[in-house]
Amino acid sequence: MIDLHCHLLPGIDDGPETLEQALELARIAVANGITHSVVTPHIHPGRYENDRVSIEASLAAFRGAIEEAGIPLQLGYAGEVRLGAEVLMMVQQGQVPFYGEFEGKKVFLLELPHSHVPPGSDKLIRWLLDQNILPMIAHPERNKDIMRKLDKIQPFVEMGCLFQLTASSIAGLFGDPALDTARALLEKGCITIMASDAHNATHRPPQLDHGRDAAAEIVGAEMAEAMVTSRPGELVRGQFEDLNG
Ligand SMILES: [Fe+2]
Repeated sequence: MIDLHCHLLPGIDDGPETLEQALELARIAVANGITHSVVTPHIHPGRYENDRVSIEASLAAFRGAIEEAGIPLQLGYAGEVRLGAEVLMMVQQGQVPFYGEFEGKKVFLLELPHSHVPPGSDKLIRWLLDQNILPMIAHPERNKDIMRKLDKIQPFVEMGCLFQLTASSIAGLFGDPALDTARALLEKGCITIMASDAHNATHRPPQLDHGRDAAAEIVGAEMAEAMVTSRPGELVRGQFEDLNG
C-alpha cells in the first residue's frame, strides 16, 4: 500500500520527536503492508516553519537512517500546507512541495482549519488552478463545517479538487461525526485516496488496512484497494522508480 499523508520525520512538526520514534513508525508501516510512505510535514507559517528545501534535507537524513536500520520502506515527500494567504507567496517562491502531477496539473496537499471552511477558500483555489496547480484537500471528514453540512464541500468538488480521507476515520477511530461524514463522502464518490495521517505509534499509527476494509463495505473491495494502491501511486509515480512503469 502507498501512504500519501503521514508525519514520519523526527522533530519537525507534531509527529515523532526522536529518530527512534520515527524508525518505530516506519517499522509499523511496513508491518501494516505499506511499501511507500510519502511524508507530509506540516507547513504552517508561524507554527511549523517547514518548506520544500527543509523537508528535502530532513528526508535525506531519515532515508539514511531507514537504510541503516534495514527497514524496507520507500520514502517520498510532499507537505501538508495550511490554507492561508501565505500559500500564494510560497507557491510563487517555489517553497511548496508537490506530490507529482494529475491530468497535467501539479498536486499538493492542502489543509483546511478543523473548525471551519474559511471564506475566500474558493478564490485561493481558483488562483491555484490558474497556476496549473490542483489541491488535494486533507481529511475533509474531520472539518466541523463539512461534518455539520456536507454541502460545504460542494464548491471544492465543482472546482475539481482531489480529496484524501483518513483511514482511521472510516474505521471509526475519530468518533461518530467523522465516521458518518467519511461514509457520506465515500457514498458520494468524491474521495480520491485514503491515507493514514500518522503522527505517533500509540494513537495515530501508520495504518491503512482497517480503513481499506471498512471502505470496502461502501465502495466495494476493488475501489477500496485502489484508494490505497493504484490511485495514490499514480499521483507520486515520478518520485519512485518502481511506480514509474
Ligand atoms: Fe496531517
